[in-house]
Amino acid sequence: MADNYIIEIKDIHKTFGKKDGKVEALRGIDIAFCEGEMTAVMGKSGSGKSTLLNIIGGMMSFDSGEYLYKGKEVNFKSQSELTKFRRKEVGFVVQYFALVDDLNVFQNVALPLKYMGVSGRNIKKRVMEALTELDIKEKAKAYPNELSGGQQQRVAIARAIVKNPELILADEPTGALDEATGESVQDIFRELNNKGKTVIIVTHDEKVAEKCDRIIRIKDGVVDDTYETGKESDNKGESV
Ligand SMILES: Nc1ncnc2c1ncn2[C@@H]1O[C@H](COP(=O)(O)OP(=O)(O)OP(=O)(O)O)[C@@H](O)[C@H]1O
Ligand SMILES: [Mg+2]
Repeated sequence: MADNYIIEIKDIHKTFGKKDGKVEALRGIDIAFCEGEMTAVMGKSGSGKSTLLNIIGGMMSFDSGEYLYKGKEVNFKSQSELTKFRRKEVGFVVQYFALVDDLNVFQNVALPLKYMGVSGRNIKKRVMEALTELDIKEKAKAYPNELSGGQQQRVAIARAIVKNPELILADEPTGALDEATGESVQDIFRELNNKGKTVIIVTHDEKVAEKCDRIIRIKDGVVDDTYETGKESDNKGESV
């Protein structure tokens, strides 16, 4: 394997439920991501995209297979190791922002640092840096319900990057935003990627996906190889 892979997912299976209610969300998925790459993950509803992203982020375990991060197996058996991995390496952004309603913007972004035991003075410095980077500093004292969707997503991204993780995972980050706002959020991910972050975005939006370096398509819990060659534009204009 090339040694610039940050993530290697090998033959991972994940099943939810038991017996009659059993759902095979991932059926032996193989996939690798290079360091510094920006990838879109697409596929129909229920194909296993969020399950895959949650596993990559160390938020969910799997039944069989292997997950290597920078060539080392991620230890899902130890909660403390897993928590350490998540806190150090992963920034996660979701569709509906998942901000804490009764904390203001500053406090929301400060949360991950508090969990890490960072000192008060450093928290202030780093939170203000993140808010400045996301151009939302003037809303530091506002509460989530006083912000627009786009502003809330900026805050959520600030919270994801405040720990300075190498990996940014986003599950339909533009799904709840109008087109123009979605585009500006997409630009933020590109800027983070330009600064060296590895970015994986699950999206239903072809426009968002096209702006990524690579598109992976998931079908029924595996990578849909029929798309792997990249450009599918040979028959442009025929049936569209
Ligand atoms: N916690 C769970 N319990 C039971 N089944 C689940 C759970 N999470 C996901 N599933 C099932 O696993 C399959 C894959 O779900 P997943 O959320 O990964 O799909 P997705 O590709 O993200 O879909 P969407 O585009 O709608 O978000 C689906 O059939 C779903 O119903
Ligand atoms: Mg999903």
